[in-house]
Amino acid sequence: MLMSKIFAYGIRQDEEPFLKKWAGQHPEVTLDYTDQLLTPATAKLAAGADGVVVYQQLDYTPEVLQALADLGITKMSLRNVGIDNIALDKAKELDFTITNVPVYSPNAIAEHAAIQTARILRQTKVMDEKVAKGDLRWAPTIGREVRDQTVGIIGAGHIGQVYMKIMEGFGAKVIAYDLRKKPFLEEQGYYVDSLDDLYAQADVISLHVPAIKETTNMINDETIAKMKDDAVLVNVSRGALVDTDAVIRALDSGKLYGFVLDTYEDEVGIFNQDWTGAEFPDARLNDLIHRPNVLVTPHTAFYTTHAVRNMVDKALDNNLAMVTGKQPATPVEF
Ligand SMILES: NC(=O)c1ccc[n+]([C@@H]2O[C@H](COP(=O)([O-])OP(=O)(O)OC[C@H]3O[C@@H](n4cnc5c(N)ncnc54)[C@H](O)[C@@H]3O)[C@@H](O)[C@H]2O)c1
Repeated sequence: MLMSKIFAYGIRQDEEPFLKKWAGQHPEVTLDYTDQLLTPATAKLAAGADGVVVYQQLDYTPEVLQALADLGITKMSLRNVGIDNIALDKAKELDFTITNVPVYSPNAIAEHAAIQTARILRQTKVMDEKVAKGDLRWAPTIGREVRDQTVGIIGAGHIGQVYMKIMEGFGAKVIAYDLRKKPFLEEQGYYVDSLDDLYAQADVISLHVPAIKETTNMINDETIAKMKDDAVLVNVSRGALVDTDAVIRALDSGKLYGFVLDTYEDEVGIFNQDWTGAEFPDARLNDLIHRPNVLVTPHTAFYTTHAVRNMVDKALDNNLAMVTGKQPATPVEF
């Protein structure tokens, strides 16, 4: 039997069991890995491999791609979606083939958004803090029921659709706006005609669109002014969708009732780090973290066992397909 060799970078502790399980199910593959990220210096760890599996926020620079190509490795499988940190021109020049995992668990992200939405509406952050201090009075920490809300989804794709179902389970009225309408959602009457209609009707607005030129800072002073008073804004999608300063102004004025943030425009280098005992690097984020009506999580909406297992399995399946001359399930076109 001809053995294939795959090398995986940046393997976290929580990924290791899934990696080992996959290796056990694929005796025809020699699978080695490291917790180190892929850099020009660590590229040599993959020497002898047919392909590599990666996931990192660091850039995949021309140098790092060249270092892999010098070892004869041009088959790279991402365990995540984003390809914006890859030097694609260089990858093309070196004849790389790349795969990603575009859908690993929409439920992970949608559930997180739904849980945080419900928490904002019930003011749980305030109530939890009161209870922890021994203040067991009810007022003025009164909740809003989800069934009384009109929930507006911007971007009814994989994640947006799961969020819609969960919110409907709570009894909310759900409306949606999407550039590309899906016939089955249209038949059920979910779509409003314009973003302005959505802003005018929604008590909760949840963003599920990608960050592209057209959506950058789509939530700003002007669009917030079009929203209902006491609206709740939920962003578990991408920081760039939101003008954070505009949201802070709206929280200060009381226009917005609450804000859910899992993604932040300046998150790279801040999220997934331990700042305990160190000087916090971002005063604006620090301010948001400490507001009673803002729920901050450090880009953890995706972070579930189900999603991590799918990211590992699908990336390895893709890489194995490529190194054995088969068509991978999700190639990246570039
Ligand atoms: N917080 C996290 O951990 C996490 C994890 C994964 C994905 N995400 C974010 O969630 C977003 C949605 O992911 P998905 O898998 O549902 O994507 P998807 O491609 O399935 O859905 C995106 C939807 O947005 C619509 N759309 C695109 N551009 C639009 C525009 N300008 N105006 C209106 N609608 C537009 C598309 O038609 C599509 O229906 C991703 O882009 C990503 O930014 C966050």
